Order: sequence, then structure tokens, then C-alpha cells
Amino acid sequence: MHGNYFIHTYGCQMNLHESEKVAGVLNSLGYAATADEEKADIIVFNTCCIRDTAEKRALGNIGVTKRLKKQNKNLIIVVLGCMTQQDGVAETIRQKYPYVDIILGTRNIDSLKDALKEKLEDGKKTLFNSFNDDYLVKDEKLPIFRDSFPNAWVNIIYGCNNFCTYCIVPYVRGREISRKQCDVIDEVKKCVDDGFKEITLLGQNVNSYGNDLSDGTSFASLLEQIDKIEGKFRVRFMTSHPKDLTQDVVDIIAGSDKICNNIHLPVQAGSDKVLKDMNRKYTREKYISLVEMIKNKIPNAGITTDIMVGFPTETDEDFLQTVDLVKQCRFSNAFTFVYSPRKGTLAAKMPQLEYSIKQARIMELIKLQNSITKELSNGYKGKTYEILVEDYQPKLDGYICGRTDCGRLVSFKGDKSLIGEFVNVEIQSAKSASLFGKIV
Ligand code: 5AD
Ligand code: SF4
Repeated sequence: MHGNYFIHTYGCQMNLHESEKVAGVLNSLGYAATADEEKADIIVFNTCCIRDTAEKRALGNIGVTKRLKKQNKNLIIVVLGCMTQQDGVAETIRQKYPYVDIILGTRNIDSLKDALKEKLEDGKKTLFNSFNDDYLVKDEKLPIFRDSFPNAWVNIIYGCNNFCTYCIVPYVRGREISRKQCDVIDEVKKCVDDGFKEITLLGQNVNSYGNDLSDGTSFASLLEQIDKIEGKFRVRFMTSHPKDLTQDVVDIIAGSDKICNNIHLPVQAGSDKVLKDMNRKYTREKYISLVEMIKNKIPNAGITTDIMVGFPTETDEDFLQTVDLVKQCRFSNAFTFVYSPRKGTLAAKMPQLEYSIKQARIMELIKLQNSITKELSNGYKGKTYEILVEDYQPKLDGYICGRTDCGRLVSFKGDKSLIGEFVNVEIQSAKSASLFGKIV
């Protein structure tokens, strides 16, 4: 087999990493990546279904391939990831987009090789989206073509057991399965040996890592082991669930040079009633005290969050509670979303709010967070930070960029050859979320 492939990736970091596994499989079969979709022999859509917008974008782009397929009869279209795992969606894709050749679910990347062979040899189409029990065993063997240097993504746990009432993830990614601690450690060591300078541990809820293992391992013990690995590198992780983030984890971060002072802690809402309706299993007070505990133990911690507005039972009063929480917590960044009903979830069955209400709330929230980010940004001026250079700055010629330990992005003049190096940068100016400095 030979030819070119092009991968469209939608959604979260987990998907970005799984596309690296898809690329690993395709490379191992003799294919090469191309940046030009029109020249591809295989086009892969690694889909997301967390919100309606993500699904629409993917379906729109899948539709475009009908034209490409007319130009190139041998073009193979693959659709995989979360969208294909939703009830009935794979069958709908099959009917409405008959030019799609291979459809695989979230736990079937290992089947891509056989599906391609069958397509090439017999013209057979594949639709396979069942959760196989031996998923983890097969997943461990997948080759990975890492594409995010100097960062390397490392999965530690798959799936989610929480069933927040708005969320489709538990339905499309199944129950939690933790990788063995020794497998995670081996992978991290290999990435460090291969020159990666930042390891990001991934899971829908990293704090429940180990709950399903019988060897007593936990997220805290995993972090401790990773911290002991020799070499100069950083460790980040996402995502933490406020109900499960324990003090021992915060203590380990506080005492470690490698583990970044950066915690992504989605709050979703600031009202106890809405949190209860969302099945989040913590209260506003518990969340705020958790943030205070983190800030006490790690004074320069960068705490980021996800917030949703327009959950079906959210009143104006509830929304004001969210606003108030954001003012109290002063997050270094907040990812804000408008609630999008997902078929099959509990919240989708509730009476829904009007679009205009949701829209007004998100605008207000974004404005508030922007003003907080701006104020916090000004506090960085004149200080010097160690930055891991990640990339060139696409918007500014001659500039490169990277992050502080606490996760803030900084742009400064420099050469692309510095990508993957640690440099000290003095912050000179701040423009809302962007920091600018010079190498010292
Ligand atoms: N609608 C809008 N946002 C959602 N998220 C999860 N489900 C939905 C939904 N149905 C948001 C949450 C989560 C982030 C990854 O996406 O804030 O933390
Ligand atoms: Fe979705 Fe909640 Fe699981 Fe996060 S913890 S993936 S929001 S169900």
C-alpha cells in the first residue's frame, strides 16, 4: 500500500492524540501525510460530538469529499471518533454519505488496517463501532506518529463514569479503563528519551486514574513516579474533576519542579441547583474552597476552567451565581460554552432555554473573563519566566512563542531553531490574553 493521507481532527486533545495513532497506523502501511487534501488517497475524519457545532462542521466537510471522490475514484474516506459512536449516527452516515468507505468507533483504531485491506482488495466497506473488551490490549500496540513536538500526549485513562447530565462523552467513549502504571511510565520515559520536553497526561477525568485497577495505583502515585524520571521536561495533565481532585495531588504538584503549576478544573456552573441538575457532585462552596486550597499551596498556580451557560434549568439568578464565582476565582483562562442538547442525555429531555437568553449570558461571561485575564496579564509585566518554546508565532513574523510553567502563552522575537528549548523571557507588555517579552 502506498499514497498520501490527510486527517481532519475535531474536538479535544484526546482526539488530537488519537489522530497521531491513526497517522501511526497509516505510516506503518506505507502511506505518507500530505498537507494538500486534494492530493490525498485517504481522507480521515476524526470526529467530535460534544456540541452540535462540532458535528455540523465534520458533516459539512465530509459532504465536500463527494466532489473529491469524483475526481479520484480510488480515494478512500474514513470517518471515526466520537460522532460515529452515537446512537444511530453511523447508520445515518452510511445512508446519507454513501461515498464514505470506512466507519470506525472510538475504540476501533486497531481495526483500521484490516478495514483498509478489505477495501483495497475486495472493495468491501466497513462499519464497526462496537466497544471490544480487549480494546486496551490492542491500543497499547498501536504505532504513534507524534506531531506536537515539543509536547507529547500520553493517555492514562479512557472513558468516563460520571454521566454529567449534559454530556455525551460517557455514551460514546464508554466506561473508565486505566492503562497500567508501568505502561504509562514506559511511554513517558520513551518520549523523554526521544527528546520531547513536555508530557501531557490525558484522560476525561485523570483523577480517577487507577480506580479500576487492583494494584493500588492512583493519579497521585502515577505523578510521583513520573516526577522521578530523569531529564529536563515538563508534565501537564487534563482534565481534572473537582469532585475527585485530592489534596495529595496538589501537594505533589507544589513539591515538584517538573509537574507544571497549571490545573484545568472545569466548574461548569456557579449555582448549587444547576450543579446538582448537572450531576456534578460538588457544591459551589466546595469548588471555591478547592481553588483557594490550590492557590494557598501553589501561589503562582494557573487555574483554568470550562463554563457552560444556558443549561435547561439555569435561571437569571443561577447565571449571576456563575458570574459571582468567576469574580471570586479569577481564573487565568476560562473556556466558555453555550449548552448544546445532546440526544440520549438526561438534560436534552428537559425544556430548553431560548437561544437569545443563552447568547446574552455567554457574551456577558466572555466580557467578564476578558477583563479578569487583562488584569492578570498586567501583573506579569517586568517579571522573567522560563518558557518552553513551542512554535513560531503564525501571526507575527520573526516571533516565536511558548508557555510559562503556569500555562500562559508568551510571544517574543527569536529563531525557529529554538523550538523545544527552554529560554528565560522577560515580559514587557500585555495585550489582554497575549503576553509579549524578550529573551534575556
Ligand atoms: N454543550 C455545551 N458544552 C458542553 N460541554 C460538554 N458537554 C456539553 C454540551 N452538551 C463542555 C463542558 C466540558 C467541555 C469539554 O465541553 O464544559 O468541560
Ligand atoms: Fe462529560 Fe462530565 Fe465525563 Fe467530563 S466528567 S467527560 S463533562 S460526563
